[in-house]
Amino acid sequence: MRQCDLKTEANRIFVPRYYYKNTAMRLSLDPVVPTSQEWVDAILSDFDSFLIDHCDCERKASGMAMGMIAKYPNRTEIIPELMETAIEELEHYRDVYGLMQERGLQLPLKVEPDPYIKAFHSALRGPSELRFLDRLLQSSIIEMRGCERFRLVSENVADAQIQKFYKQLWTTEAKHGHIFVRMALRYFPEDEVYDRLETLNTIESEIVSSLPIRSALH
Ligand SMILES: [Fe+2]
Ligand SMILES: [Fe+2]
Repeated sequence: MRQCDLKTEANRIFVPRYYYKNTAMRLSLDPVVPTSQEWVDAILSDFDSFLIDHCDCERKASGMAMGMIAKYPNRTEIIPELMETAIEELEHYRDVYGLMQERGLQLPLKVEPDPYIKAFHSALRGPSELRFLDRLLQSSIIEMRGCERFRLVSENVADAQIQKFYKQLWTTEAKHGHIFVRMALRYFPEDEVYDRLETLNTIESEIVSSLPIRSALH
């Protein structure tokens, strides 16, 4: 059984894609296409907008985990981990909102649909076992993109408090990326899980590459 130790340097992201798949480390995949410098420049030039968008993404992540429980109440094996994930995302929501408050920022009165999530959602297969698998794997991929981008924030932002916050955050999101694949492996054969994970991961990078760059998480 693979094990995950996110505290080790060996488990940093941006290793070759297949390295972890065939070793006793984490289960998730890194993004196929890395985030561009243009995205880093965009969020640094308007960090307030990034924070506001990121805050809402944490709320949605918590809601997504709770939504999975509501949608699949018979999947009792993964409900405790989904609850834990929902709580951790809610804590992120609270913490990012705290950073917003320190800067005098408010939550938006109207939240527009996230074009990345909307496009990625259209790649999911129909209502069935396959959709359940796709939702778990999509969640892992979204977590891993967040992980990658939060690491970039932590390495590029000048403010020491923000650096520290995002460094802590990306390790948690990496853990979530791992957990969702582990959930999938409870119910589906490994080959099926990784074939689909690689397909969806490629689709995710195509979506990221096609979207305009803005000061937002996606
Ligand atoms: Fe989060
Ligand atoms: Fe997460």
